Amino acid sequence: MDSAALQSAESHYFTNNPPPKDLKVNITLAREFITRHADQGRRVVLVTSGGTIVPLETQMVRYIDNFSAGTRGATSAEYFLQNGYAVIFLHRQFSLLPYSRHYSHNTRSFLDFMKEGDGRVVVDEQHQEEMMYVLRQYMEAKRNNTLLILSFVTITEYLWDLREVAKLMRPLGPKAIFYLAAAVSDFFVPQDRMVEHKIQSSEEFAQNAEDSGDTSGKLPAARTEGRSLIIDLEPVPKFLKSLVDGWAPEGMIVSFKLETDPSLLVKKATHSLKNYQHHLVIGNLLLTRKWEVVFVSSIDGEKWIRVPSNRRTKSFSGVESLVGAADPTGKKDAGEEPAIQTHSIPQGIPAVEIESLIVPEVAALHTKFIQEMQARKS
Ligand code: PMT
Repeated sequence: MDSAALQSAESHYFTNNPPPKDLKVNITLAREFITRHADQGRRVVLVTSGGTIVPLETQMVRYIDNFSAGTRGATSAEYFLQNGYAVIFLHRQFSLLPYSRHYSHNTRSFLDFMKEGDGRVVVDEQHQEEMMYVLRQYMEAKRNNTLLILSFVTITEYLWDLREVAKLMRPLGPKAIFYLAAAVSDFFVPQDRMVEHKIQSSEEFAQNAEDSGDTSGKLPAARTEGRSLIIDLEPVPKFLKSLVDGWAPEGMIVSFKLETDPSLLVKKATHSLKNYQHHLVIGNLLLTRKWEVVFVSSIDGEKWIRVPSNRRTKSFSGVESLVGAADPTGKKDAGEEPAIQTHSIPQGIPAVEIESLIVPEVAALHTKFIQEMQARKS
């Protein structure tokens, strides 16, 4: 898509899909946060996280969603904070949050970490050390005001927030990173094709296209025909291009590429980098994403990051035999014992979180990126 077509797609999207109610509040919070950290010369990362939902009705009862729990984003945010960054955490409401994620996963309730002692609620012995570590990190981020948490629900809310926050980050120049870990919907129902009310499942109560809401004479994108529900989605413009060319021309942009077919991962990550001309694509497979990723970058070429087999988290329902399957060099066990500098929780969780390896690599690339940008200017 050339730049005129892109601008027209962008303007069409934002004209026809109204901003979220909390956009102004988010902008105010983000502006204050960015200004403070820019004044202090700190690097700032925008981490996007979680899935973006696609409503089928204006008064939304039904929607389309995806699998993302926000683990990648929430975990990465913690490691960015450890690496000295200020973090804007733009996440899907109710997906995992930095720090509290340790106690909100679905295998155990946070109440399982508690007990009663002397008429008070206390953390049980077994989890004292671990929780103290997490709590201290969280308190430090709060004390230093280095973590700003913003939320979205729908794809349109996400895109409005992304665009406005990206524009606010411009004064940071190359010190800004965009770390786009959210699982962004590729298809959606535009506002002008959305019905107002809940789509009726019974033919008896099914509404006609005309009286189902203001769809400006257009056929509603989601409707019943006979006994079937027909959903006719339209493509979401690829806003990565707008981000690179217009919203954040000086920042370092890191996108993620998710695939399920190992034979496509590197090809598609490479294609994405060429197509959008940004700085780094982190490729991951759905079934191995917690154990390995591939970096494809304009700065450093292609590089695999892998958690050694004896340090992999076993709670993840991935498929370990697929590790290495997407690596065209076939070096499945290369770097079996890499120099891991884990800042992980001290006890009880011996597994290494892959984000503890990803984020320092990203930060190192960011240093190179800043140096290159500064050299170009001087
Ligand atoms: O949250 P978890 O459960 O931990 O899972 C983490 C993850 C697998 C979701 C994460 O690691 C990841 O891969 N996120 C990106 C998923 C994704 O949207 O991939 P994609 O191939 O559909 O899109 C590639 C890039 O294009 C993304 O950076 C996205 O920001 C961008 N995009 C996508 C759609 C769209 N309409 N416009 C875009 O700009």
